[in-house]
Amino acid sequence: MKRLLQRMTTEEKIGQLLQLSADFFADNQAVITGPMKAHKLTIETVYNAGSVLGISGAARVRKIQTDYLAHSRLKIPLLFMADVVHGYRTIFPIPLALGGSFSPQVMQQAAEVAAAESAAGGVHVTFAPMVDLVRDPRWGRVMESTGEDPYLNSVMAKAAVTGFQGLETLDQDHIAACVKHFAAYGAPEAGREYNTVDISEWRFREQYLPAYAAAIESQALLVMTSFNTLFGVPATANQRLMRQILRDELQFNGVLISDWDAIGELVHHGVAGDLSAAADLALKAGVDIDMMSFAYAKYLERVSKLDQQTAQLIDESVLRILELKQTLGLFDDPYRGISEDREQKIIQSEANLHAAQIAAEQSIVLLKNRQQVLPITPEKRIALIGPLADTGDILGSWSWSGKAEETPHLRTTLEQAVAHVQVARGSDYHMGNDALLHEAEAIARDADLIIAAVGLPSDESGEATSMTDIRLPESQRKLLRLLASLGKPLVTVVFTGRPMDLTEVDALSDAVLLAWFPGSRGAQALTNVLTGVVNPSGKLPMTFPRSVGQVPLYYNYYRTGRPINHDQTDDENKYLSKYIDESNDPLYPFGFGLSYADFELSDLTTDTAILKPESTVNLQVRVVNHSNVPGQTVVQWYIHQEVGETVRPVKQLISFEKVMVPAQGIVTCSLALTPDMLASMHMNLTESTDEGNYQIMVGLNADDIQQQEIQYAENKEEHNA
Ligand code: BGC
Repeated sequence: MKRLLQRMTTEEKIGQLLQLSADFFADNQAVITGPMKAHKLTIETVYNAGSVLGISGAARVRKIQTDYLAHSRLKIPLLFMADVVHGYRTIFPIPLALGGSFSPQVMQQAAEVAAAESAAGGVHVTFAPMVDLVRDPRWGRVMESTGEDPYLNSVMAKAAVTGFQGLETLDQDHIAACVKHFAAYGAPEAGREYNTVDISEWRFREQYLPAYAAAIESQALLVMTSFNTLFGVPATANQRLMRQILRDELQFNGVLISDWDAIGELVHHGVAGDLSAAADLALKAGVDIDMMSFAYAKYLERVSKLDQQTAQLIDESVLRILELKQTLGLFDDPYRGISEDREQKIIQSEANLHAAQIAAEQSIVLLKNRQQVLPITPEKRIALIGPLADTGDILGSWSWSGKAEETPHLRTTLEQAVAHVQVARGSDYHMGNDALLHEAEAIARDADLIIAAVGLPSDESGEATSMTDIRLPESQRKLLRLLASLGKPLVTVVFTGRPMDLTEVDALSDAVLLAWFPGSRGAQALTNVLTGVVNPSGKLPMTFPRSVGQVPLYYNYYRTGRPINHDQTDDENKYLSKYIDESNDPLYPFGFGLSYADFELSDLTTDTAILKPESTVNLQVRVVNHSNVPGQTVVQWYIHQEVGETVRPVKQLISFEKVMVPAQGIVTCSLALTPDMLASMHMNLTESTDEGNYQIMVGLNADDIQQQEIQYAENKEEHNA
C-alpha cells in the first residue's frame, strides 16, 4: 500500500479522506448536487471520494463502483459504508433488547446475519456496534446500546464485532465493524441529545472505556468519533482522547472516522474559527475520514502550500484507509460480496427470520405476572387493544432497510394461535377520543382477558428523540385505566426503545410484558411468549425508574457518605441521601425479568475464603426450578469491595450465565474468581486489585442477592477462615 500511496497526487490523497452521502451518487454515477455547489466541490472531487455512506443493493452498488472505477486513475475502489445496526433486511430486536437477552450467542448471531445480508447487498463497513454506556432513558439513543453495565456491554461488544467480522478472516459473508461513538456519547447532560458530556477521567476509565476497549481488543477495524465534548474538548478534536487513549493505550491502529459533520461542528463548539481550522484540529487528533463536513476538502484549496506536518498526517490517514480497503479484499475484487443471487437466497431467508425470532424470544422481558395470568390458554376469548395491536411498526429505529409493511402484526400472529381474538385500536399513540374508547370497551366487555398493546412508534426512540416525560402518553394511560376498571385480567404489552416510567402501568395491569422493538419476527415471538410456547427469559439491561425524577438511576451507583437506611424513619434521620417524595428504589431493577418457571438460588459455597495472586476461588450456587415448566434464567455474579482507595459501586457485575433448568430440576453454576475480576480504578488512573475484603454476590437480578465474603491477600498463608 505504501507504494500506491507514493503514486498518489495530493488531491487523490485528500479524496480518500472524504466520505459522501448517497445524495452525491445517482443510480449509476456521481452527480452534482446542491450541497456540492455550496461546498465548491467539483465532479472530480466526488469521483475522488474514498467512501460513501448509505448506499446498498447489489445492482446499484455494482453500477456505482463500475462508473467510479472508470473515472479513477489509480483504480482505488470506493468503500461502501452503512448503518447496519440490528439487521439489514431481516431486523433483529433493537440492541438494548439484545443486551437484555444476556446471551452473547444471540448478539453474535444477529450480527452475523446482518453482515451476510448486507455484504450481499454491497456493504463493506457497518457503523456498529454502538457500545456507549447508557444510564439516562430520556436520551433516545439508549435503544442502540446494550445498557448500563460496563461488563455486559463489553461482552456484547465482543460478540457483535465477532459476528460482523467473523472469527478469523474477513470473508465475503462478513463486513468490517465500526465501534461508536468514541467516547462517552451515552452520557449527555440531562439526557438531551448532542449535549455536553462532563465526567471525570477516573469514572470514564472505570465505567465508560471498557466496552470500547473490548471491541477494539476483538479487532474492530474502525472507530467513530462522538459528537460530544469530553474533558473540555470535543471528541473529534481531542488529541489526548484519540492519540493517547485510543491509539497509544488501546493500541487501535484501524481507521478513525468522524461522525456525521462532527468536524464541521467543531466550529459550533467554538474550538475552531472556521472549517479550515476544524480540519486541522481533526487531522491532528488523528481522524482519518471526514463524514460529510467537507472540512478536509478545504485542503484542496491549499494543496500547493500544505506544510510538512499536515502532508505527513494526510499520508498516515490515507495509508490506514488503503489498508482497510486491502483487508476487505477490495483491490482483488472491488465487487466483493455483491451478488444478486445471494441477495435472493439469503436476504430474509427462513433461517435468518428464524434467528430473528429466537433473538426476540430471548429478549422479551416479563415484568409482572400476578396470579399467573400468563401464559394464556387457547380457549380464552381475547380482546387485543391498543395502537400497537395491529401495526408493522415494531422494527425500531435504525432499521432503514427493514420493511414495516412486510412485518407481521401482533394481531395476525395472535389470531393464528388463539381462536377468539377481537381487535380495537383504543387510542392513537398520543391522542385518543371517545369513539376509540367506546369501541375498545365494547370488545373488552365481551372478552375473558384483555391484552393491551401500548407504547410509542419506532421513530420516538433513536437519534434526536430526547424526552422529558418517559411515561406512556396520557391517552394510552387513559385507555389502560378504562380497561383496568372492567375487572377482567389485563395483560399489558409495552413496545419501547427506552426504559419508561411504568409505575401506573404496573399498578393497573395484572401482567406486564416488555416487547421492546422486537424486529421482523417480533409478533410471532410475542405470541409464543403470551401463549406459553416460549418461556420468557429476557432480563433488564437498564434499570426502570419509578419516576423520571430519579433519573439517572442505575444499579451500580457509588457509595455515599449518607446511605439510606430502610430501618430508619424520616423523623429518625432526615439527612440521608434520598428524596422526600419518592423512594430511591427502582420500579424494576437491572437484571430483572420473570419466568413462567419458579427459580430459586440456594447453597452458595466457596472452596476457600482467601484469594491469592495467580490463584482462583471457586464459588458454586444451585439454581432450583420449583415449577413444572422448564425455563431459562440468568445467574448474575456481582462484587463489592468493602474498603477501597477510591469509592466503590455498591455492586458491579463481573460474570453471568444464562442457564436452562428442567422442570423440578436443579443446575449448579460456578464462578472461578481470579484477582483481576476484583480490580478497580485508582486515583492514578490505573487499574489494580487491592488487598482486603470483598463480597461476592449472586442473584437473579441486581436487587435479589445472596453473598459470601472473601479476602484478597497477597502474602497471607492460606487458612480456612
Ligand atoms: C449518527 C451515527 C451514524 C451516522 C451515519 C450520525 O448522525 O450519530 O451513529 O452512524 O449518523 O448515519
